[in-house]
Amino acid sequence: MTQRTLVLLKPDAVRRGLVGEVIGRIERKAGWAITALEMRSLDRALLEQHYGEHVGRPFYEPLVEFMSSGPVVALVVEGERVIEGVRQLAGPTDPIAAAPGSIRGDFGTIVRENLIHASDSEESAERELKLFFPGLV
Ligand code: PPS
Repeated sequence: MTQRTLVLLKPDAVRRGLVGEVIGRIERKAGWAITALEMRSLDRALLEQHYGEHVGRPFYEPLVEFMSSGPVVALVVEGERVIEGVRQLAGPTDPIAAAPGSIRGDFGTIVRENLIHASDSEESAERELKLFFPGLV
């Protein structure tokens, strides 16, 4: 099942010089391809849309603040079962719970600074891809 997903390398990944490492892991996965890539700063308006389902939750404000604290790298990744696959590569939200070998397990520190976002379903992927890459066909 060929899919596409939105991946964000969060400001901590950029600040810590982990962009190449994370992109390398995605590129090495057989059958996946990065088909768009952009480094950019995210404003509050875009983050409010992106994280709209979490408004009101205790982590929402710290999350938006963190995600606007520096540039991110946004990627479109295409491939076989890539939505589930990138989330598996990332590991669970909390780096302490993430297994060694996953991105968060190898490099994560605290929950807020967990290095990578990846769409969690086909519906989220469609919505998020439109938000970050509106020119995508
Ligand atoms: S849920 O309940 O499964 O919908 O939540 P989850 O997917 O774990 O988290 C949703 C996004 O919020 C981020 N998050 C946090 N940010 C800052 N501080 C805390 N404590 C926190 N807890 C969760 C989490 O990383 C998710 O963001 P993305 O960008 O999808 O990784």
